[in-house]
Amino acid sequence: MRFTDPCVRTTLRPILSFAAIMIVVAMGADAPRAEEAATTLSPQVLQEIAQVEAEIDKIEAGTIERLAEPPDNQVQQVELLGKLMLYDKQLSVNRNEACAFCHMPETGFTGPVSELNRTTGSYPGSVRTRFSNRKPQSHAYAPLSPVLHFNSAQGDLVGGNFWDMRATGRRLGNPAAEQAEGPPTNPVEMGLPDVACAVYRASQRPYRALFESMWGPQAFAVEWPNDVEQVCARPGPASTGDQLPVHLGRLDRGRVNTTFDQMAQSIAGYEASAEVTAFTSKFDAVLANQAQFTAQEKSGYDLFRGKAQCNTCHRDGGPGEDPLFTDFTASNIGTPANRRLPYYREDRPDALGYQANPQGSSFVDGGVGTFLRGGHVLSQPSAVDARWVKLAPANQARIQVPTLRNVDKRPYPSFVKAYGHNGYFTSLKAIVHFYNTRDVLPRCQPGDAGEGTTCWPAPESTDNMNTSRVGHLDLSDAEEDALVSFMQTLTDGYRPTSRQ
Ligand code: HEC
Ligand code: HEC
Repeated sequence: MRFTDPCVRTTLRPILSFAAIMIVVAMGADAPRAEEAATTLSPQVLQEIAQVEAEIDKIEAGTIERLAEPPDNQVQQVELLGKLMLYDKQLSVNRNEACAFCHMPETGFTGPVSELNRTTGSYPGSVRTRFSNRKPQSHAYAPLSPVLHFNSAQGDLVGGNFWDMRATGRRLGNPAAEQAEGPPTNPVEMGLPDVACAVYRASQRPYRALFESMWGPQAFAVEWPNDVEQVCARPGPASTGDQLPVHLGRLDRGRVNTTFDQMAQSIAGYEASAEVTAFTSKFDAVLANQAQFTAQEKSGYDLFRGKAQCNTCHRDGGPGEDPLFTDFTASNIGTPANRRLPYYREDRPDALGYQANPQGSSFVDGGVGTFLRGGHVLSQPSAVDARWVKLAPANQARIQVPTLRNVDKRPYPSFVKAYGHNGYFTSLKAIVHFYNTRDVLPRCQPGDAGEGTTCWPAPESTDNMNTSRVGHLDLSDAEEDALVSFMQTLTDGYRPTSRQ
């Protein structure tokens, strides 16, 4: 494959042109009202969102049917509960956004809206004018991340969930469970003003009885205040003077917190299930001697483990180790800023008075460093260990190595996926070309048509940037393609009998 190939052109064009942004931003000198300053969604995005929402409703309805005859096995009960909550849009403030909205099976449990992946990289929350600062990760394989710990021999933090490891798992013993406690009250995601609202909403859902039989009849035995409906319909964040706007007695507050933990644990249980964390890729079949790589895939695998040294971070297994294609450490590979993120423009209070990004266009994602300094006030589900604050400088701008499983999974070939914490890359070829040439190609000039092929923009941050191998791999065009081809074998759902 060459960059003159028209197919490649098509996949790369999105990253070449900022003008392709379908998001209309109306801001300007004549001081528009807050709601006019908001990002609005293009008709194409709205249409895709409608399709995703319909698909979520369908999956949810099919799963609710299973409640008529729930499994008698406790593990399967937890999985069923978790799935029902993951597809439940009632757990968001405007009752319009399930977890799955940003994590759908057809993309390997990451963002399912091609046009958003191509343009904004990030996804709108339940309040549709609020976008987060990052690209959705895959929630598959996430429960297999270790509880965040400092490995003193390696000199590195290892484990946790989120691009910056901030869901540590140290309280519940499971990073994915603590992760699931983030989105419900994150103002740019599901937007509830109080975790009690998630519990209240769950208490009204068809899975309540299963939840109670699983976790105990006390789960929803809470004396709800009369105004709970109204309070929970108001998007967060809660006001500083009233941080827990659902006013509960002390014991009820404790119960709600425990039930919220159990909701999160159920969700993590589903994420860990064979339906999600499947290990059914062609790569797995090859390991089990049930399939063979093509010559190109094999050469890509050899490069991945050899000349390109991808597996030094994206570990492909070892003795007694599942190949998860991450070592759960964090690095700064020098990903350029994604200027298409609407987050850069969320620097003034929105119609509800919420200001998502006070730093505006000067925002730089500090990765693990920001987490260690306690920088995530409203979306920090796990406590920060004060003993680790001193590690912040060495972790500034470092991002957790993501799994590469399902990295190419997409519903149809022209579907665009976004890659990297900010979604800067929109094809696997582009990110491989970046690893290969970051330090070799010149800096792009403003509006440079060669961006992503013959030049690169500056890294979002050069703090702690990895320069030992990343950035100058000396790969040929054919070798880049082989690496892409190898990564395409990591898509779950491969059937050995259907191989070509
Ligand atoms: C509006 C989009 C959106 C919604 C809704 C959403 N997520 Fe996410 N998810 C993201 C983004 C963005 C990230 C990365 C955020 C970060 O690193 O700060 C993420 C990260 C994750 C991760 C971390 C994966 C890893 O490898 O560390 C898991 C697990 C996950 N989400 C599960 C969930 C669950 C469970 C819910 C519902 C309770 C949910 N998400 C709701 C966008 C979303
Ligand atoms: C020094 C560690 C390191 C090495 C070596 C490395 N990666 Fe990565 N990889 C990362 C980190 C960290 C990220 C997240 C970067 C970001 O968000 O800015 C990443 C992201 C990716 C992604 C995006 C995945 C997603 O879901 O968004 C792909 C694809 C990828 N790497 C492939 C490769 C390939 C192929 C190689 C070898 C040429 C490689 N990586 C070498 C650390 C590494």
